[in-house]
Amino acid sequence: MSQRFNLRALRAEFPALDQSVNGQPLVYLDNAATTQKPLCVIEAVTHFYRHDNANIHRGVHALSARATEQYEAARHSVQRALNAAAAEEIVFVRGVTEAINLVASSFGQRLKAGDEILISALEHHANIVPWHLLRERLGIVLTVIPVNDDGSLDLGALPQLVTPHTRLIAVNHVSNALGTLNPVAEICAFARTLGIPTLIDGAQGLPHGPVDVQAIGCDFYALSGHKVFAPSGVGALYARRPWLDELPPYQGGGDMIESVRFDAVRYAPPPAKFEAGTPNIEGAIGLKAALDWHRQQDWCAIAAHESSLLAQAQEGLAALPGLRLIGQAEHKAPVISFVIDGTHPHDIGTLLDAQGIAVRTGQHCAMPVLEQLGAPQGTVRASFALYNTHDEVEALLRAVHRAHRMLS
Ligand SMILES: Cc1ncc(COP(=O)(O)O)c(C=O)c1O
Repeated sequence: MSQRFNLRALRAEFPALDQSVNGQPLVYLDNAATTQKPLCVIEAVTHFYRHDNANIHRGVHALSARATEQYEAARHSVQRALNAAAAEEIVFVRGVTEAINLVASSFGQRLKAGDEILISALEHHANIVPWHLLRERLGIVLTVIPVNDDGSLDLGALPQLVTPHTRLIAVNHVSNALGTLNPVAEICAFARTLGIPTLIDGAQGLPHGPVDVQAIGCDFYALSGHKVFAPSGVGALYARRPWLDELPPYQGGGDMIESVRFDAVRYAPPPAKFEAGTPNIEGAIGLKAALDWHRQQDWCAIAAHESSLLAQAQEGLAALPGLRLIGQAEHKAPVISFVIDGTHPHDIGTLLDAQGIAVRTGQHCAMPVLEQLGAPQGTVRASFALYNTHDEVEALLRAVHRAHRMLS
């Protein structure tokens, strides 16, 4: 074990993990839905409320100055976490859903009927429905990179899918439903040769290691705080600076303007131009604490740990007769989705909960891919984070075997 990755010490930083559920020690395996929060995040938010709570940017008083300083420091933390070229390229939003809606709304104003947005069959609804809204409003066309039976993207199909009407390629970094890790740098490099901008849904990227938007070469990258050990209701959109200068604002209101008259308005420079109204200040401060903590982790050791959890779970589950793993791409984050013949995923999930094990069941906001892979009722999904242990995987395996016996 590396000096910086001490699992026992790391778990102790997450108070919510230390509890019993239904008389059993909690085994929290629903990390792709949301992660637990380390003490430094809880304390940063509490400290803000106890000492610094004020609205930002416009106040001349001490508390407002402190709140503003922390909020803007959080922007720098996001910049560092993503290796963006400048803090001005970071726009605070509610999460990935809002980030993609922002792009769809602002970038969408450049689109017309017949323009194409290329997404993948692996997308979360957050990277499908905003484009449907444009399809309904403007008549744009959604085209889709197909998925192979193992849950990887069929990138061989990409060149044929791109046409002179393709305006944006928008794909996820990691599939929340299957765990597939997509070769986003390769996709962005391909798009760049054709001058097509790219958006990466990074909801499930940063929770499993550092992200470098300049190395990926994307135009937009979206993250959600709550997936990366920070509070919910806060997230960030990275956008390359020229886009932020060029695109129109997403929402109108206070803080995003330079001047307002009844016959004219001048917008503030980015990123303020895209941050109308009072933002989630305490959320941004919690996000800063989480990302600063994230930076200190030993991601090499964590990657090895997470892969070994995944391998252990895959091997143990595959041994169960009638159990089908959904999504077995070569490159995967530690997410495992499965169905068991003759059982409903919700029934398995309920029986696991009775044994203290938290997993997610259903379609994971990814109906198209689950239908294609023959799991229209959804799957049982166990998603691991850096604080999960091999004992917890063992507990999962025992509980799934037990649930299977009870239901068959
Ligand atoms: C891949 C992916 N994209 C988008 C989202 C939406 O994130 P949020 O609900 O935080 O906006 C999620 C959440 O599960 C996700 O996993």
